[in-house]
Parts: sequence; structure tokens; C-alpha cells
Amino acid sequence: MTVFTDLSVDELIKHAIDNKEGVLAANKALCVETGKRTGRSPKDRFIVKEPSSEKNIDWGVVNQPISSEKFHALWKRCSDYLASKDSYVSHLHVGADDEFYLPVKVCNEFAWHNLFTKQLFIRPEKYNHKHKSEWTILCTPLFLSEPERDGVNSDATVILNFDEQKILITGTRYAGEMKKSMFSVLNYLLPEHDILPMHCSANQGEKKDVALFFGLSGTGKTTLSADPERYLIGDDEHGWGEQGVFNFEGGCYAKCINLSQKNEPEIWDSIKFGSVMENVVLDANGVPDYNDGSLTENTRAAYPREFIPKRVDENRGGQPKAVIFLTCDLFGVIPPVSKLTHEQAAYHFLSGYTALVGSTEFGQGTGIKLTFSTCFGAPFFARPAGVYADLLIKRVKHANCPVFLVNTGWTGGAHGKGGSRFSIPTTRAVIRAILENELADTEFETLPIFNFAVPKILHGVDSKLLNPKKTWADPSAYDIQAKELAEKFRENFKKFENKVSPDIIAAGPA
Ligand code: ATP
Ligand code: OXD
Ligand code: MN
Repeated sequence: MTVFTDLSVDELIKHAIDNKEGVLAANKALCVETGKRTGRSPKDRFIVKEPSSEKNIDWGVVNQPISSEKFHALWKRCSDYLASKDSYVSHLHVGADDEFYLPVKVCNEFAWHNLFTKQLFIRPEKYNHKHKSEWTILCTPLFLSEPERDGVNSDATVILNFDEQKILITGTRYAGEMKKSMFSVLNYLLPEHDILPMHCSANQGEKKDVALFFGLSGTGKTTLSADPERYLIGDDEHGWGEQGVFNFEGGCYAKCINLSQKNEPEIWDSIKFGSVMENVVLDANGVPDYNDGSLTENTRAAYPREFIPKRVDENRGGQPKAVIFLTCDLFGVIPPVSKLTHEQAAYHFLSGYTALVGSTEFGQGTGIKLTFSTCFGAPFFARPAGVYADLLIKRVKHANCPVFLVNTGWTGGAHGKGGSRFSIPTTRAVIRAILENELADTEFETLPIFNFAVPKILHGVDSKLLNPKKTWADPSAYDIQAKELAEKFRENFKKFENKVSPDIIAAGPA
């Protein structure tokens, strides 16, 4: 039994191929399949209930408790299992911040998983765990948990142990579990240091103007942060403190379904030797068919930030100049861009309205449906949502930066009922106008029901699109749909009614 430690990218790829874990595609990326679990398994995710963290956690269906005893028993069996075979260990960091980074020791059964973390996390010049306590990820996909014996829900289990700084992932090969687990760890730890952890992407313009793009999976964080005119910081997870924003990761994890070279050239070109493609179907010549969703709609490519030519080398930036909430509205109700007041920002951050692309979460089916996901990432935030919302508003006020809501979803009608999704070029034009500060001297109008302030004209965007009612063949059908959606917002927001100030409640739809 050999523990292959800190192998190079080339060596890990060689091992993965020799072990028959995957193949090199025509674009030279390593292509792997993950079996039945092609997305995260939220129903199988637990947090150890222990005295040091118990009081801080928002227990419930997202953060399910498990006892220390159960955790220790399963951890022991998984470690013994891993010790019985060749394995791969890498020493990495998460958090591009001198003070708040965490050292992570990643122990894998598969070489390709170890390659994934090497590309997704931060490869430190010098691994430093001396003054910090180290986190350990133990990931044994072929070891199946047993619900009766382990007190879990299925053959796959993800457990976070905040006290012992351990993450156990077993029974699933979907690599995204590893990155999202460390994200959950930082999301738990950082608020105590007055840092807001965020499910957002970040990039920077020529003038070092930083923009943040919040959004649940599939809303466009990765797509829109890879902007030919701007420098990438990160595509998914960041912290925001007094000093500015910093990336948690060192790589990107792009959705590949229907990827087009024309609309997303930076991502397309990043899928090359060193990248890992998950569940992408190859043709007989090994050429990826990105339109093939037969294994899953949640096809993915992981690559290091270094594969994006325009990037911020420091992997962090100053105070943001704009905050953008991305929502993928299935109903064609939300305007392509609205400027939010601080109260509206708090309201919509807590609401987290968007579409859930079923395939991102195992067990959610294949379709797409409405969801409200607090903080635009409810599955990853262990503390009560109010902790994050308060910090967001504090940071936004301190940086004095505007907040926009951008709909990357449907217009002209609902999904499947005559509407169509905004094109990527249209959304990019909206983003460009926001970031070039064009909205500063544009006239706004306030639309009824949701009370969104929308610009009347926007350079590069067809003015008809700005007021969604004008894109519907039948404007009265728009009003009905908008009222229905407003009712869903109100229903969902009831859970916050005793927890937030009246002006935040009043910022919701009338
Ligand atoms: P995750 O958190 O899972 O990484 P994400 O927010 O990064 O999700 P993306 O990977 O950017 O999401 O996915 C957005 C998907 O939607 C891409 O497949 C993109 O091609 C597609 N898309 C279609 N229309 C648009 C649009 N108008 N704006 C952004 N993306 C769009
Ligand atoms: C997810 C993601 O797993 O955002 O939901 O990547
Ligand atoms: Mn992404």
C-alpha cells in the first residue's frame, strides 16, 4: 500500500489513466464519470453535533445533526479502508488571505479526485500548518455507508466535524462535494472574524474596480465572471472583510452543458491538459459533445485559475464597486436589471429567489423548478441566514456600493410557456452597462408589484427588454404571473417576519 503524497499534476493524470479512472479526451482534459451521483447529495450531508459549535448552527433539513459516536465509527472504517489500498494525499490551502487561510490535507482513494483538489484549491508555495490547525478531507467514494449501522440516509454520506476539523465524504464520486465542504467550513468560521463569506464570483476591471456576482447554481457566476474585458478573481466562493475581497479557491468549476466556444471562449479554452471533465460525453474520436446531457445536465470542468489568461494574480481585490445578485427567473417576471435599495438588497438576499437546476443536486430530478435559497446558497451556510444578511448590509454600506438584481433567466413569458432565456450576449451587455457605471446617469422607472427601479434605456440592450411586461405577447398575462410570483415571495418570507426589521419586510413585493 503506497500513499502517493503531493504528486505533480502530470503524475496524478498518469496515475488516473493507469488506474483506469478516466481517459484523456481529444482536448487533452482528463474525462471521468461519477456513476449514479452526478451532483451533490444534500440529503446525505450532516454536521457533527458537538458542544463547540452546536449553538451556532441552524439545524434543520440543510444542516442535519449526527452524533460524534456515529461519526467516529464511520471515520474509522473509512480510514481503515483507505489504508488498505494505494491512496493520494495533497497538502493545500483554501482562502487567499494571509490571516484567514486554512491548510487542508486531502486524502483520496482516486488520483483524479486528488488532481481535482489540486486544481480547485490553492497550491501554496509553502504548505503552512504550523500556526494553524489543519483540516483533513477523507474521501473514499467506493466505500458505502450503511444507513442502519451509521445512522445516515443512504450509501453516500458527507459529514463536517467543526471541532475536529475533519470532513468525511464516502459513497459518492461527485468531486464538487469536496470543494463545497471546504466552502461550508469557511462559511461557518469567517463571520466570527467579521468576514462575510459569499457564494459569488468576482472579477476586476482595468481600474481595479471589483464586481461581485452572487447566485445559486446555474445562474451564471462562472459564465459571467469569465469576461473578456475583465480580470478574473474567482468563479464561486469569496470572503469580504475590511480589507476587501479574497477568493477561497485557486480554480474554477464550470458547467459545460451546451458550452459554446463563441459565447464562452475563456471557459472553452481552459478545458485542456490539466483540467478534469466530469460526466462529459465523448464521441468515438474522444471529442467532447457538450450538448450531450445523457449522463447528466450537470456536466462539469475543473481547471486552475491560471488557465484563464486575464486574471488577478493576487487572487483577491479591494472593496467592491458593484454587487450583482443573479437570479434565473423561470416565470419571465423579473426585469433584466433592477437597482436595489439596501432594504431590497437584504430582502432579496434572504429570499434567494431563483431556479433550481435539478441535476445539480442528486435526488432532485432532471427538471428545473422555482426555489428560494437564502444567501443564494442555502445548502452551504451553517449559521442562521440573518448572520450573513446583517454582514452583507454592513459591508455594502461601508463600501458604499450599489446592489443590482440581474435576471439571467426567462423573459417574454414563462419557461415552457412562450418565454425564452436571455441570451448570454444580452446579459453580458447588461453587466457591461452596470460595471461601466452607465446607470449612474440613466433615468429609472419603478415597476409595480415588485417595486423594482429599472433603467429606461441601456446602451447595447434593446429598450423593450428592460420592462418585462413589454416582452409578453399578452401584458395582462404578465400581471397575473407577476402577482402569483409575488405571492410565493410573501409565503416564503413569512419565516423571517419575526427576525428582520419592518423596513426589510416592506421592501418585498406589495
Ligand atoms: P455553480 O454554482 O453550480 O457553479 P454558476 O452560477 O457558476 O453555478 P454557471 O456555470 O455560470 O453557473 O452556469 C450558467 C449556465 O447557464 C451556463 O451553462 C450558461 O451557458 C447558461 N446560460 C444561458 N443563458 C445565460 C445567461 N443569459 N447568462 C448566464 N448564463 C447563461
Ligand atoms: C452546487 C454549486 O453544487 O453551486 O450547488 O456548485
Ligand atoms: Mn460556477
